[in-house]
Amino acid sequence: MAQNTSSAVMQQRSEPNDSLDDFPTPPWATRALLKHVIMPMTGPVSDQSCWEPACNRGHMARPLGEFFREVVASDVHDYGTGHVILDFLFPGDVRKVDWIITNPPFRLAQQFIDRSSQIARHGFAMIVRSAFLEGVGRFNGLFSVNPPSIIAQFTERVVMVKGRLEPKGSTATAYCWLVWIDGETDTRFQWIPPCRKRLERPEDYQTEAA
Ligand SMILES: C[S@@+](CC[C@H](N)C(=O)[O-])C[C@H]1O[C@@H](n2cnc3c(N)ncnc32)[C@H](O)[C@@H]1O
Repeated sequence: MAQNTSSAVMQQRSEPNDSLDDFPTPPWATRALLKHVIMPMTGPVSDQSCWEPACNRGHMARPLGEFFREVVASDVHDYGTGHVILDFLFPGDVRKVDWIITNPPFRLAQQFIDRSSQIARHGFAMIVRSAFLEGVGRFNGLFSVNPPSIIAQFTERVVMVKGRLEPKGSTATAYCWLVWIDGETDTRFQWIPPCRKRLERPEDYQTEAA
């Protein structure tokens, strides 16, 4: 059978099992979470703390800092950006925070969700491939016992490329935000309206670490 080499299909996110899943999130997708999903539900978060526990090169932690009073950024790997080096899944005493927000490594997403449930006071949010919503195992082990409060599906594609931000380009992978808010156990679905143009800034792509 001929291989499909269209650029969209070639950019599907597929990684070996031991990969760190080095796929930074374009900052506009984080601003979309706050402006279209979290703040309409909870109000401003400017008096609250947030932890980005898989911060990579800081492309999600930076826009989170535009909204939260305090943002702690950590990652298991040192990307040279000065963040705390910490395995989020390693049991240990950690300070509670109001929110945990991240793009978890895909193969560890469920563990990141379980761990976040134990640490976040008000809520936590994970950007995941929309395909993460499928699967009997995931339904039995996660969604039926700890359903998200909100599933927020992007209407625009969020382009994630290995190891860097890509201002242009396309992708065949659809993404959504899953948000758990304390006390909100009925899952609500929403679309994130087109917003990339409004939420994207040229400087978002000028901050790559060496
Ligand atoms: C998809 S990237 C997310 C990057 C960043 N959150 C963003 O959105 O730009 C996944 C990140 O998870 C980190 N990671 C993998 N396993 C981890 C663990 N056990 N604890 C903390 N970070 C981990 C990787 O080093 C990688 O930076």
